[in-house]
Amino acid sequence: MNSLHVAIVGCGSITLQNHLPGLALCPDTRVVALCDAQPATLERARLQTGVRITSTRYEDIVRRDDVHAVIIATPNVLHPAIARAAIAHGKHVLCEKPLALQAADARAMADAADRAGVRHMTAFTYRFVPAMRYLRHLVQRGDLGQPYHYRSCRLQDWGDRDLGWRQQTRLAGTGELGDMLSHRIDFAHTLVGPIRRLVAHTKTLVPIRGGHPNDTDDWVAILAEFASGASGVLESSKLAAGRNESWRSLDSVEINGSQGSFVFTTSQWNRLQAGHAGGPGLEPLDVPREFWTWPGSPRDPGAGDPLVTFRYDQAWEFVDAIRNQRPCTPSFHDGAAAQAVMDAAVQSSQTRQWIDLSRAAG
Ligand SMILES: NC(=O)c1ccc[n+]([C@@H]2O[C@H](COP(=O)([O-])OP(=O)(O)OC[C@H]3O[C@@H](n4cnc5c(N)ncnc54)[C@H](O)[C@@H]3O)[C@@H](O)[C@H]2O)c1
Repeated sequence: MNSLHVAIVGCGSITLQNHLPGLALCPDTRVVALCDAQPATLERARLQTGVRITSTRYEDIVRRDDVHAVIIATPNVLHPAIARAAIAHGKHVLCEKPLALQAADARAMADAADRAGVRHMTAFTYRFVPAMRYLRHLVQRGDLGQPYHYRSCRLQDWGDRDLGWRQQTRLAGTGELGDMLSHRIDFAHTLVGPIRRLVAHTKTLVPIRGGHPNDTDDWVAILAEFASGASGVLESSKLAAGRNESWRSLDSVEINGSQGSFVFTTSQWNRLQAGHAGGPGLEPLDVPREFWTWPGSPRDPGAGDPLVTFRYDQAWEFVDAIRNQRPCTPSFHDGAAAQAVMDAAVQSSQTRQWIDLSRAAG
């Protein structure tokens, strides 16, 4: 097949960490154009990649005939407008999470992409952790039995440092909720199905970060009821001092069902803890080798740190779906479903009410 040409809009941290190395592993795939609003950031990316076509205006990039697909990695507030422009020009789109600031915008992105017949993908990167994929397989196979409880806990130590656009509601939408809990809401959907109703609480315990106002949540908790009747408890915090950050900190999911329990932690990329009903307790369960990479991915799981490199399979999924004209996993619809839960969590936190998802605003 002819080479697939990708443009990247937003050349900050996640583009350097995930998108560029992921795309570099995809055969016959080239990054041909880069966009960043900051000339210095754009220049750094240009020097690093050797990509010749650059612009500080995404409008100039997404309309190009030599661009087939666009990756959006800007502050959250910009995702819908850039996605709409790319879709309007017939480009396939991989957009960072959270897809938008409101579910209505996220759903509009999904509908527009479907109507245009382009591939669309939400960067729920932690779906690509081998242990999470294996857990999903076990749950779908019936090893859990009837799901009773879903529990996720994400605890990091971000202290009071400056988070830039991430600490401004108008640019980020929410804080910990959209930044971290969105992934764990997506886990919940993939493992237990849709959430029917929820009550949530958020806290801003550090209102000044790096000398600048922070009006986003540092901590969030959701108590949820799934459509299946299962219960959910989801918590995420930036203020777990001493817990470290990223994959060195706690990112744990426990799921209990009629037949057993499973525990997933991102830091154990190829191992779960598992127990069966009436058994002696949790024991390690190794993830089989065939789950160490996403199906078809050319990545060598022995190359580099597997806690970093699993993320590269995301680019493979996007590229492979484009080539084979099949839906991406996870799609914009998955991103919109998580966004509806986030909207309901914000509404619940503000009104101190349970929110019924089928009746939630947006
Ligand atoms: N999937 C994941 O695991 C994961 C991890 C980190 C970040 N993210 C998401 O990725 C996105 C970017 O996060 P980041 O950490 O890379 O942020 P960042 O601040 O490091 O990078 C964002 C870049 O976008 C640029 N930008 C701002 N306005 C722009 C515009 N109008 N046009 C083009 N570029 C513009 C900025 O100059 C900056 O370089 C966010 O949506 C974030 O939630 C996802």
